[in-house]
Amino acid sequence: MAIYLVEIFDYDLVIVGSGLAGLRAAIEAAKVGKGKLRIAIIAKNQLMRPHSISAEGGSAAVLYMDEGDSFDLHAYDTIKGSDYLADQDAVEFFVRQCPVDILELEHWGIPWARREDGRIAQRPFGGHSYPRATFAADRTGFYEVHTLYDTMLKYGNIDKFHEQFVYDFLIDNNTFRGVLAFDIPTGEIRIFKARAAIIATGGLGRLYGYTTYSHLVTGDGLAIALRRGLRMKDLEFVQFHPTGLVPSGILITEGVRGDGGILRNAKGERFMEKYAPSKKDLAPRDIISRSMMTEILEGRGYKGPDGLDYLLLDFSPIGDEKIKEKLSQVREIGIHYVGLDPLKSPLPVRPSAHYTMGGIDITTTGYTGVTGLWAAGEAGCISIHGSNRLGSNSTSECVVFGKQAGGDSAKWLLSNDKQVNLSEGDRAYAENFIADAYKDKGDNDPYDIKRELWKTMDRDAYVFRNEKDLTEGLKIVRGLIERSGKITIAEKGNVYNQNLIASLEMKNLVELAEVVIYGALQRKESRGSHFRTDFPKRDDDNYLKHTIIQKVGGELKLSYKPVTLTKWKPEARVY
Ligand code: FUM
Repeated sequence: MAIYLVEIFDYDLVIVGSGLAGLRAAIEAAKVGKGKLRIAIIAKNQLMRPHSISAEGGSAAVLYMDEGDSFDLHAYDTIKGSDYLADQDAVEFFVRQCPVDILELEHWGIPWARREDGRIAQRPFGGHSYPRATFAADRTGFYEVHTLYDTMLKYGNIDKFHEQFVYDFLIDNNTFRGVLAFDIPTGEIRIFKARAAIIATGGLGRLYGYTTYSHLVTGDGLAIALRRGLRMKDLEFVQFHPTGLVPSGILITEGVRGDGGILRNAKGERFMEKYAPSKKDLAPRDIISRSMMTEILEGRGYKGPDGLDYLLLDFSPIGDEKIKEKLSQVREIGIHYVGLDPLKSPLPVRPSAHYTMGGIDITTTGYTGVTGLWAAGEAGCISIHGSNRLGSNSTSECVVFGKQAGGDSAKWLLSNDKQVNLSEGDRAYAENFIADAYKDKGDNDPYDIKRELWKTMDRDAYVFRNEKDLTEGLKIVRGLIERSGKITIAEKGNVYNQNLIASLEMKNLVELAEVVIYGALQRKESRGSHFRTDFPKRDDDNYLKHTIIQKVGGELKLSYKPVTLTKWKPEARVY
């Protein structure tokens, strides 16, 4: 094994992450830059394999004002869905921009599903009072990624780097200077010196064992930002998607319920009638997840493997033809992963960790407050989702705000002559970081730590939370952070060193887990996805505010930030 710095690249803009937000940002930066900017997009996987391809059900947009939808309705649904923690000015901007960007994808070639009359089709989604999820069967994210990737190829000044593991950013005096990465196939260290960057690495990802996230998503950009002192906003709000397939956690799209599917308990009852009499199975996700867990905890679920007790998702009201046409991927998932064909049998489901409402505190243009540094997509928190996101708002967010971040950073680069220099110290730092990661520092196994983290988060920071469990969880996670500094990685080679990657990812995850649990402990109320059984009510007097956590001198520093309200006053959430 030899650790050495092989290459220094020099760019104006580096985009880290090639999901929907990163791809959309790259296109906009290239467009606004008019060929004058040198742009790189780098990803941990192959660029065409981001986690965004797993998005299934749809992207929200007001397309049919002539039929009764409106911007105000979309904004109201989103804000009520957020349990009033969303910044309403940002939501208003978002809902107006969604149709523009969804139609832009249409012009770039995405095969949106159509109605009989040839107009774009939309399906109902939870918490929305109009069917505004624009979809491409149940492979929406896949088609969106491919459409954006193809569009990006039209621009000659975007260099593409596959299989790069990003482990740090160079930031000093609150100014960004570059990205440190190693090339996964060779282990060679690379410095992407750049005048600006956009963090588009997604959410917390595999913080939980039972999750819809792919193994790729390990919060790398968030963790680096945390270590570099950026503000983390509202990270305690983790969304549990009601229909994760038991036992893997794989997403079974809300589109199933949008198209008529029904959740049933072990007595065969459509239990959502009891918890959300009006919206029923299409209530927002936080409410459905809590209802499901109540059914399970009160003994009306089925016994599942490893404590994964479950309920059933009944496809029968949808009809065979519609399942084959609109839900073919979900059908395949059922057949291949649990041997059940939804045409003949319901699927076993329970709430699965799915989405990070919080993220790096950013403005609506994605600016982080660090000169030259932007964030977009799930890594950022603007905030339009508050404490609970409505389904189909996230893929729209990625295109809307990826475009904002790409455009804003490009404009800034064109009007700013900030130059970046590297020193010998930077090179030494880049090499030493990785050399240190290879060193034997103790007998802890990174995979054991990750497994323990999953067990802890699944148990102590899941749908229902309380002081005792969170305190215990925090203690365990802090122990894991300590152990994560005393590990040995078994494999010492440079080529595709999965052990090295797993250990760095594990460190990122345990540090983020501390922020999630710490924020959850401090928020002594129940709001959206954060439900405290010891504080079961929303408390607007004390907690209608965003949690901000920063790492200062190795310690977490807590502060709060007001929520922006425009025209919607907080009210009781009844569905
Ligand atoms: O259920 C789904 O298809 C997920 C969509 C989303 O998270 O927005």
